[in-house]
Amino acid sequence: MKIYFSLAALAMLATACQQQTSTPKMALENHGDTVAIMITSPTKYLLLPIQEDQPDVWVKLNTGNEAEDVWMDIRLARDYVDYYVPFKLGEGSTARVDVLHLPKEAMAWDNFQLSDSFDTTNHEYFRPKYHFSPAYGWMNDPNGMTYINGEYHLFYQYNPYGSKWGNMHWGHAVSSDMIHWTELDPAIVRDNYGQIFSGSSYIARLPKGMEGTDPFLADVLLPGNGSEGDFIASYYTSDNFRLERPLQEQQSFAISTDNGRTFRKFGAPVLKSDGRRDFRDPKLFWNERRNEWGMIVSADNEMQFYGSKNLRDWSYVSAFGDGYGVQPRQFECPDFFSLPIEGETSKTNKWVMIVNVNPGFWFGGSGSQYFTGSYDGTEFKCENSKETVKWLDWGKDHYAAVTFSCEPKGRVISIPWMSNWQYANDLPTKQYRSQMGMPRELFAFTSGKDTYVGQRPVAEMLALLSPASVELTAGSVQFSNADQPHCIDLDVNDGATFTLENGQGELVYFEVKAGRIIMDRKYSGIIPTKDFANETWSPVPELGTNSGTWAPVAQLCGKKATYHVQLWLDRCSIEMFVDGGKVSMTNLVYPHTPYNTIKGEGISNIKVSEIKL
Ligand code: FRU
Repeated sequence: MKIYFSLAALAMLATACQQQTSTPKMALENHGDTVAIMITSPTKYLLLPIQEDQPDVWVKLNTGNEAEDVWMDIRLARDYVDYYVPFKLGEGSTARVDVLHLPKEAMAWDNFQLSDSFDTTNHEYFRPKYHFSPAYGWMNDPNGMTYINGEYHLFYQYNPYGSKWGNMHWGHAVSSDMIHWTELDPAIVRDNYGQIFSGSSYIARLPKGMEGTDPFLADVLLPGNGSEGDFIASYYTSDNFRLERPLQEQQSFAISTDNGRTFRKFGAPVLKSDGRRDFRDPKLFWNERRNEWGMIVSADNEMQFYGSKNLRDWSYVSAFGDGYGVQPRQFECPDFFSLPIEGETSKTNKWVMIVNVNPGFWFGGSGSQYFTGSYDGTEFKCENSKETVKWLDWGKDHYAAVTFSCEPKGRVISIPWMSNWQYANDLPTKQYRSQMGMPRELFAFTSGKDTYVGQRPVAEMLALLSPASVELTAGSVQFSNADQPHCIDLDVNDGATFTLENGQGELVYFEVKAGRIIMDRKYSGIIPTKDFANETWSPVPELGTNSGTWAPVAQLCGKKATYHVQLWLDRCSIEMFVDGGKVSMTNLVYPHTPYNTIKGEGISNIKVSEIKL
C-alpha cells in the first residue's frame, strides 16, 4: 500500500506533527470473508486503483451503522491500473474500508493511496469543449433538470467509482446558461434501497398558512413559483438488483430546501410496481385539469400515469403505449408536456409524450421516440396510427432526452445523453465516459397533414457564435483555427454530396438523396466498436450507401430544392440541424485531428463561426 500526499497535505501534516497527531497509516485485517483496510489519522480520500476490464468487487466505508453503510461495486485493479478514483473517508480519527471478493494476489492491495486531494486535471483529448462531461467517472441519462433561484440544475446518472456504468448516483452540475456548468458533489447517492436511477424534479411549495410544515408531512403541495420557501421535489427510481422483480424497481421521493446542495430522502420508496418487471424513470408534471401532481412512469412496454395531491400518495390514473411505435421495446425515460404549433393561431396546444426506447432505434440501439396527441387531464390519445414512428433526433447518439421543468422563460428545453447503449461503455476515453448533447428548444410544427416536434439550439448557444477566419479555395472552405469548436451554416441542394475533412483522410460524408439527408461516419476517425458505423444497420440499401444515419428531410421540411443546414462541431461530436431544427441529427465522431475543411457538390452560402466560450 502506498501513501501519497499532495503538497497541501504535507503542509497540513507538518502542522499536525507539531500538534503531535500521527501520520496516516493503513493496515489490513481479516474479518471472515471481508478484508478491512484499517486507517488511522485518515486523509480525505482513499484513492482506489481501477482496472476497467475486471469484474466488480464490493467496497464499503464501514462506519459501524449497518443499515446505512452501502456496498459499492468497484473494478479494483488486479494486473495494472487504468486510473484512480477517490473514495471519501469520514471525519473521525480512524476509518475502516471493507473489501469483499478481491483475490489476495490482486495488485490493488499494494496500490491503495491515502490523499487529501484528487487531481481532476483533464487529460483526455476528446473532452468536449461546450458539452457537459463529468470531470471523472461514468455518466448516462440527464435527470431532474429544473431551475430555481437563478440556477439551472442538471442531475445525471453517475458512477463516481469508475468510468463504466454502475453504482448509480445522481451527479449534479449547475449553470446560469445551460452551457457553462459547475460540477458539484453528487446530489443523491446510492443507498440500501438501491441504485438511484433516472427521474425528475419540480419546484414545489407548501400552501399558504402551512409554511414551516415538513413538506413530507403536508397533505397538499403546490407548484412553486420561485419565491422564498420553494424547494426542489425530486423523484427517482430505487433499483435494487438484489431483490426479485417486480420488487426491484420502486419510485422514491427526496427534497432539497437549499438549492440542490443537499437532499433529504423520504426514506422508503413510495410507489411500487403493479407487477411490471420494469417500472422506472418517473417524470413529474403539474396537471392543471385535475389540479394535482401528475407522474408518468415507464412500465415495460407502456407509460403509466399516476396522480397525487401531496407528492407522496399516488393513485393510478391511466396508461398509454401498448403496441404503439417501435414494438416490442422497453420504454424508458418518459417526458410529457404540451407545445403550441408554430405558425398556427390555434389556442390548443399539442401534447407530446417522449418515449425513449432501447433497443429499437432504426439505426441500432437506443433512440428517442415521441407521440403527439391530446390529453384531457386523464388520458393521452395519440393522433397517429399505432405503427407511426416519430424520432426526435435521427442520429445514433441521442438518448434519454428529457426536458427542464420550471424553465423561467417558459421554454421547453431538452438535453439528451449523447451516446447509445450499443457502445456507450466502450467509447475511447477513460478519465470520464459520456457527454450530454447541447440544450435544445423544442417546438411543434406541421408538415403535410401531420404534427412533428423539432429541436433547435437554445438562444444561449447562438449567442456564442462569432465569425471565424476561413480560407476559400476552389470548391472548399477551410477554417484556420481548427482547435476552436465551430458551427457551419450552409445551403444544400437536393442531390448535394459533401464532406467534412481533416486532411488526414478522415471525413464525415453527407448526402441529400431521395428525400433523405444522410450523415455517414464510416471514415470519420476512430471507430470504437463494430456497431458504431457498421454496414448492417442502414435500412436504405437503395440509396447506394449502406452506412450512416438518415432523416426523411422532404417529409419533415417539405420537398424543396434547397435546405438550410447547420453543423455544430465539438471535439468528438456533430449536431446537425436542418431548416431551423425540423430535422436534427446527433452523432459522435473521433477524428485524430479536428475537421477543418468542408467541400462538396451542391452546397453554397457557407458561413463558418467560432463557438466562443
Ligand atoms: C436509460 C436507463 C434508465 C435507467 C437508467 C439507469 O438509459 O436505462 O431507464 O433509469 O438508464 O442508469
